[in-house]
Amino acid sequence: MDQKMEAQDRSLLKVNNLSKIFDISGGLLDQLSWRQGRLTRVKYLVKALNNVSFQIKSGETFSVVGESGCGKSTLGRTVIGLHPPNTGQIHYQDARIDGLNPKQMLPFRKKMQMVFRDPYASLNPRKRIQQILEEPLRFHYPGFGSGEIKDRIEEVMLQVGGDVQWLSRLPHEFSGGQRQRISIARGLVVGPEFIVADEPISALDVSIQAQILNLLLDAQEQRGLTYLFIAHDLSVVEHISTRVAVMYLGTICELARTRDLFSNPLHPYTQALLSAIPRIGKKKARHIKLKGEVPTPINLPPGCVFHGRCRQATERCRQEFPELKTLADGRQLACHEV
Ligand SMILES: Nc1ncnc2c1ncn2[C@@H]1O[C@H](COP(=O)(O)OP(=O)(O)OP(=O)(O)O)[C@@H](O)[C@H]1O
Ligand code: SF4
Ligand SMILES: [Mg+2]
Repeated sequence: MDQKMEAQDRSLLKVNNLSKIFDISGGLLDQLSWRQGRLTRVKYLVKALNNVSFQIKSGETFSVVGESGCGKSTLGRTVIGLHPPNTGQIHYQDARIDGLNPKQMLPFRKKMQMVFRDPYASLNPRKRIQQILEEPLRFHYPGFGSGEIKDRIEEVMLQVGGDVQWLSRLPHEFSGGQRQRISIARGLVVGPEFIVADEPISALDVSIQAQILNLLLDAQEQRGLTYLFIAHDLSVVEHISTRVAVMYLGTICELARTRDLFSNPLHPYTQALLSAIPRIGKKKARHIKLKGEVPTPINLPPGCVFHGRCRQATERCRQEFPELKTLADGRQLACHEV
């Protein structure tokens, strides 16, 4: 096995039984209501992630897809430490990183960076680009002199197709695409190994989406980065991903190599999701229209979370939660009927 293949075989990130619950009950007064003649305290818990397990190999692009609200951003934010999980373990290489305090988390913060969907919101409007790039460098590399800082910033600006003249300007002086280049530069400047890219091109004009995507792919190749890529656009996902996890209501329903998933989706939800992609020059699968709405994650149905919309649902599906099992070809699938 050559060195590159060996690196790709190693897990950089291991996630086991990860759950994230948001308590949206509000204050005590909001929680009190009359039920059957008695004053009762009612809690509203959003189960955004439900026992999610997966591994990301070094150097791969691991994409997460699924309808709005299925938990993609919560997953990205939880693995990178922006949300504490309620249950489960997260390992980065050999270190367990869930539950670390901010000081213990510091060495991992510089290895794990996040690129957000909206570059307007993610850059401080009052800070000049020089300051936006310099601050994380000074924080993570306190020993760096001004020469090293200047070199790092210039190198990263060049890599994202920026200009050193941008450094003296404020975020509002740039277009959306330029701002996304700057927020990618801010992530890259500290020398990360792993990047969570949460819909990094969705908020951009279609004409510049491909440029930003290519920039991310070039940076990956040059720096050996590993990506957790969150996206809505399935054609983009098919183009860039090594493996893809399909999520529905906080659970992974199918996880497979990109080619396997797109050529032969097995889970009924994946089949419906992929049937909506326009295929140029290829025979398009019959569009499967899903009936009903996505149930709210506040009141999750028992059994398979997809049963209310699944054409193949049986009585067992209404009662029993299907665990994610691994098939002979390495694909993982959570369905009683496939
Ligand atoms: N901070 C929060 N407080 C309360 N509920 C939250 C919070 N963040 C997310 N949620 C809820 O968790 C669920 C998953 O949200 P999440 O943002 O992870 O979905 P998503 O798949 O990223 O959706 P989208 O494609 O629209 O970005 C949703 O029901 C959402 O309302
Ligand atoms: S477990 Fe049942 S309801 Fe769920 S996807 Fe499979 S067939 Fe459909
Ligand atoms: Mg999201």
